[in-house]
Amino acid sequence: MTISDDVHTILGIETSCDETAAAVVSDGTVVRSNVVSSQVDLHARFGGVVPEVAGRAHESIIMSVVVEALVEAAAEDSEIDAVAVTRGPGLVGSLLIGVAAAKALALVWGVPCIGVNHLEAHLYAALLEEPDLELPVVVLLVSGGHTMLVLFEGHGRYRLLGSTLDDAAGEAFDKVARYLGLGYPGGPAIDRISNEGDPTAVQFTRAMMHDGLDFSFSGMKTAVINHVRSNPDVGTADVAASFQAAVVDVLIHKTRLAAEQNNARGICLAGGVAANSLLRERTLELCTNGGFQDFLPSRSMCTDNAAMVAAVGWWNYRQAGASPLDMGADPSLKLPFLD
Ligand code: KG4
Ligand code: ZN
Repeated sequence: MTISDDVHTILGIETSCDETAAAVVSDGTVVRSNVVSSQVDLHARFGGVVPEVAGRAHESIIMSVVVEALVEAAAEDSEIDAVAVTRGPGLVGSLLIGVAAAKALALVWGVPCIGVNHLEAHLYAALLEEPDLELPVVVLLVSGGHTMLVLFEGHGRYRLLGSTLDDAAGEAFDKVARYLGLGYPGGPAIDRISNEGDPTAVQFTRAMMHDGLDFSFSGMKTAVINHVRSNPDVGTADVAASFQAAVVDVLIHKTRLAAEQNNARGICLAGGVAANSLLRERTLELCTNGGFQDFLPSRSMCTDNAAMVAAVGWWNYRQAGASPLDMGADPSLKLPFLD
């Protein structure tokens, strides 16, 4: 049921982890600006995101990122019909900064504030770039905190098909990269160095390959550590490429099963790990061979950004209207899955 179509241009705000982001999106699909300020340099020396540091950094730059998004979009304040913000899941101290900023701006401008689920925003990233996507599609959502296969049947209609039993795929990339001394964030580093390595050098176990649609990455990470301990002379690029190949094999195998079992029209990638070169290449191959439409968001739309927040905010507002202004941040907010 459509409640309202009086909202066209939305300012999106995203601060759930270590990116401070703001974007202006019109009618859920026209990205007029998409500003992302990454804190990677701040956290790199700690080898991972430090929540306290992230919260303080968001606080110090959120308003300049918002101003930059408005200027880049050439949008007057009066043109903004609503403010959408990620309210979870994520780091509570980081989420709170975005939520407080969004509420303040909504109050000052006299416009609705729309709370958004970060994972739902990732699901919408492909839709933002491909509004005519034919549903249902299977979305492989692979980020630093989550790994799940979701059947996207319609707006607000998601079915959970499988998820990780332990580490998220991105987390495994980050931990293996740290062990191999490749720095932070680990995913892009493994992606890069894998180009110089032999993916068949080490046959790492493909965990839970034939056990339904759930995943397990913790054992694969431990296998890398054990292999390097017993073979100290092994080349880092070979280990990285072999690990990446094992993870991608499992992701692709289960995505294919999920798409076949659910008669999906297409396959989408979402989340930071969807920026991975091998995963993108293998997904395209899978779609060509299996007759599925492919929807690979651009790399900048895969990683955390506020355009996807504004897009999902627009859809949510049309279905359910504004969020109450006493809405809080919810670090463990769940996606509302169908039974
Ligand atoms: O979605 P995202 O930006 O933030 C979360 O919501 O978690 O995902 C971040 C994750 C990190 O674990 C990072 O290492 C991984 O995405 N990542 C990649 C690549 N780019 C980012 N993993 C593999 N290959 C990449 N090219
Ligand atoms: Zn994310």
